[in-house]
Amino acid sequence: MYRTHSNGELRLENVGQEVTLAGWVQKTRDKGFMIWVDLRDRYGITQLIFDEERTSKEMVEKAKTLGREFVIQITGEVIERVSKNKNIPTGEVEILVKELKVLNKSLTPPFTIEDETDGGDELRMKYRYLDIRRNPVKENLIFRHKVAIEVRKYLSDKGFIEVETPVLIKSTPEGARDFVVPSRMNEGQFYALPQSPQTFKQLLMVGGLDKYFQIVKCFRDEDLRADRQPEFTQIDCEMAFVEQEDILNMFEGLTRHLLKEIKGVDVADFPRMTYDDAMRKYGNDKPDIRFGMEFGELNEVAQHKEFGVFNSAELVVGIAVPGGNAYTRKEIDNLIEWIKRPQIGALGMVYVRCNEDGTYKSSVDKFYTEEDLAKWAEVTGAKPGDLICVLSGNAHKVRTQLSALRMELATRLNLRNPAEFAPLWVMDFPLLEWDEETNRYHAMHHPFTSPKPEDMHLLDTDPGKVRANAYDMVLNGNEIGGGSIRIYDKATQALMFDHLGFTPEQAKEQFGFLMNAFEYGAPPHGGLAFGLDRLVAILGGQETIRDFIAFPKNNNGRDVMIDAPSHIDDAQLKELNLKIEL
Ligand code: AMO
Repeated sequence: MYRTHSNGELRLENVGQEVTLAGWVQKTRDKGFMIWVDLRDRYGITQLIFDEERTSKEMVEKAKTLGREFVIQITGEVIERVSKNKNIPTGEVEILVKELKVLNKSLTPPFTIEDETDGGDELRMKYRYLDIRRNPVKENLIFRHKVAIEVRKYLSDKGFIEVETPVLIKSTPEGARDFVVPSRMNEGQFYALPQSPQTFKQLLMVGGLDKYFQIVKCFRDEDLRADRQPEFTQIDCEMAFVEQEDILNMFEGLTRHLLKEIKGVDVADFPRMTYDDAMRKYGNDKPDIRFGMEFGELNEVAQHKEFGVFNSAELVVGIAVPGGNAYTRKEIDNLIEWIKRPQIGALGMVYVRCNEDGTYKSSVDKFYTEEDLAKWAEVTGAKPGDLICVLSGNAHKVRTQLSALRMELATRLNLRNPAEFAPLWVMDFPLLEWDEETNRYHAMHHPFTSPKPEDMHLLDTDPGKVRANAYDMVLNGNEIGGGSIRIYDKATQALMFDHLGFTPEQAKEQFGFLMNAFEYGAPPHGGLAFGLDRLVAILGGQETIRDFIAFPKNNNGRDVMIDAPSHIDDAQLKELNLKIEL
């Protein structure tokens, strides 16, 4: 037996027992005739003591050869500590070691295996197995496991069946590029890795499974950010014979269950907001509603004066920054510089100081009176002591810019409290989205999403105005899930492909299998998928999903530990018919 107890287990009541422990050497303290060693495993740290007097000089000499991260096994007696450590659960006892066996040596690790480490990101990723020994990373992985278990429990209790769908498939259009895999047996042909199991879960509904879920890896070749990885995990769900309301209720239930079980938080209110409202009030389809700073549209009160910039703008829009009047001129200038950076791209910013005495001072005083500015304050909800920040220009662009400013200021003002959870549904998304690059409409969610029947008549005349039965779940300013009610008849699906610019032949080529299935009694159905990585990170009070993934990729999509992607040799290329003859 390697061990009788874990390193997080022993207490005062174990004093006098002989125990065998195993683990890693966290650190040693050498007093010459006495040595203390902190022994670590997943469960905690137990202090070991090697003592010339109480055991042997030999024992102490052997302990002196131990280095950090050596793997050892010891046998000894649990004794009460003289100076107790109240900070760890095992801090009242230590083990007087009688036998020591080195199970494996270790090189000095490239960074310290402590909660606060000296290792930079790349180094920690290269030695991820060492990083996982550190509490914060280990705890995140355990936390992820707990969330996944609760998800399975909830869905299984509600009658969902977990079904595995294939990974070597044909392209599924979710808006990103596919990762492809060459087929050796079918020369010149490729599989695609699923961007999601979308078409399969719909086919499972045609198959009569009624309620499906899967915790599943998805693959998307897209630019990476803090909340995006090229391979990530979805909690993918689908239900038959449902309306949108059934889906919203079911997955609101799942979210409530997770918040309650994992965080002990009861969510009273689960608001719903249309996409249009989200864009108008927050400039963003995933608004963080933990704090206010809602947009105030100022066209009516700021245009038709002498200020040409505003007069020619499609939209003049502002937010009130709580307490912002305290900013110095320099701080405001910095803010303006921040918003003019190419990543945000604003041309400038007008601001109004709301003085405590009820007067106003703006950067455009030449054009506006106190009464004008008072109206701006009313529209943006600014109070004495606030600062109003105003942008103008193309409506979509300024909303996006002001949204970035709103989030940045909220972070600086500590308004984004990670212990507070404010979920909401954003609904009624547009069905189609114009893409400047390809000069055609794209499905905003995916091509299987059903249009709202009452908007169908606009499909030919004003396609951009057609709304979809599509919804996103947003938590603390992050899109944690999204889904839709699907098209389930061949004619509507064909119409949809037509509007997306597919010829009937192309639609048949790519999605014939789904259209065929729709001819054999497809039930009405719908579903959604949560991003598990995002959900876990946000429940954990963070936004970087990498920290909740055991072996993540870096920002260039590389796994720096195993060094992938990598070249493959000529023989393998040839076998795959990929050899490029020069
Ligand atoms: P969607 O594309 O909205 O929907 O994806 C669902 C959720 O997956 C998460 N997500 C990601 N997480 C990490 N890295 C990524 N690269 C990444 N991309 C997406 C997000 C998102 O909300 N088949 C549909 C679902 C459906 O209609 O049922 C789909 O995949 O949290």
